[in-house]
Amino acid sequence: MQKDLLLKSLKKEPIERYPIWLMRQAGRYLPEYRAIRQKYKSFLDFCKNVEDAAVVSLQPVDILGVDAVIMFSDILVILEPIGIKVSFEAGEGPKLDHDFDFKSLKSKDIAKDLGYVFELLKVLKEKSPVPVIGFCGAPFTLASYVIEKESSRDFTKTKVFMYENQKDFHILMEKLSEALVEYIDNQIKSGADVIQIFDSWSMSLSRFAYKEYVYDYNAFIIKAIKQKHPNTPIIYFFRGSSHLIDYANSLGADALSVDWTVCMKDVCMDYPNIGFQGNLEPQVLLLNEDNIRKHVEEFIMCIPRDTAFVVNLGHGITPDVSKDNVKYFVECVKEASYGKRNLFKNG
Ligand code: CP3
Repeated sequence: MQKDLLLKSLKKEPIERYPIWLMRQAGRYLPEYRAIRQKYKSFLDFCKNVEDAAVVSLQPVDILGVDAVIMFSDILVILEPIGIKVSFEAGEGPKLDHDFDFKSLKSKDIAKDLGYVFELLKVLKEKSPVPVIGFCGAPFTLASYVIEKESSRDFTKTKVFMYENQKDFHILMEKLSEALVEYIDNQIKSGADVIQIFDSWSMSLSRFAYKEYVYDYNAFIIKAIKQKHPNTPIIYFFRGSSHLIDYANSLGADALSVDWTVCMKDVCMDYPNIGFQGNLEPQVLLLNEDNIRKHVEEFIMCIPRDTAFVVNLGHGITPDVSKDNVKYFVECVKEASYGKRNLFKNG
């Protein structure tokens, strides 16, 4: 049994099977998670309790047998130290509060203010038998929450602000990017083996807007992190955005995490110099066992052997799936991909 399948696969080293982890693997579908969640009224208080955050981060390794731990936190926690208030209302998602004066935003003392995230990573590094994934939101995805002040479907406020208040939009993106470099640098120093950047809302952008307003900030962050930590793989998640794949490919990330709107075989062949992660629909986890197996087997068969590959869903596990189905899915992935990568040469 290899404990570092994730790192080896991303580096195209020989592995016995594909690594698997799942976005939102620590979450409401697990009764073991809900038992701890109910101790807290506020989601942020839960994130700030290092002991409980570590327990729920590690649960999927014991329960499901996944090949990586993702730290239990949220992409929005970085907004607090730069001066934007965030709260999570039960059933309503995040709510943000600020007065649009982006010039006065400061990345105060990230190392201190987000100390609970770095403490969590230290604990996970010590306790986890598998690699630890740190993460952040990409600047545009964070900016869209800042501008909308809550979840949005069409990002109208974000787009109007971006096109009409270009100077302020760039100030916001710049402040976020600077804070993110410091945040990720500290995550890696505290024990993160891999970093995933969540650009969950890139799908709302045209190619023009991505190139004009967003691309340079993502490239800046990845370059700055690579300069400090050249051996830490970076995965860029850009959901529903196949129209942006050539831009994503040139950001400098090690792997692209894509959803089911792309044909995995095609993108692996079209972009041979970058790894891929994904991309089954989370709803596959609601099928019966025969159909779960069928979907997994067909999927694994399509992945070209020489792609640096990580199995995941195209987006997070939904709360309505059963833990047994998720367990079965993970077993199927392990069985279906066993032996497939033996052809890999070193390096
Ligand atoms: O297991 C894991 O994947 C790690 C934990 C994790 C959470 N959020 C926990 C969480 C991760 C990686 C995130 C990232 C995140 N947060 C993203 C990017 C990924 C994606 O889904 O596209 C985004 C867009 C957010 C913002 C966010 N946080 C929203 C919109 C919500 C409310 C919706 C919801 O699912 O409840 C959250 C809250 C949140 N983040 C919860 C959890 C477990 C639920 C909070 C609760 O229990 O009340």
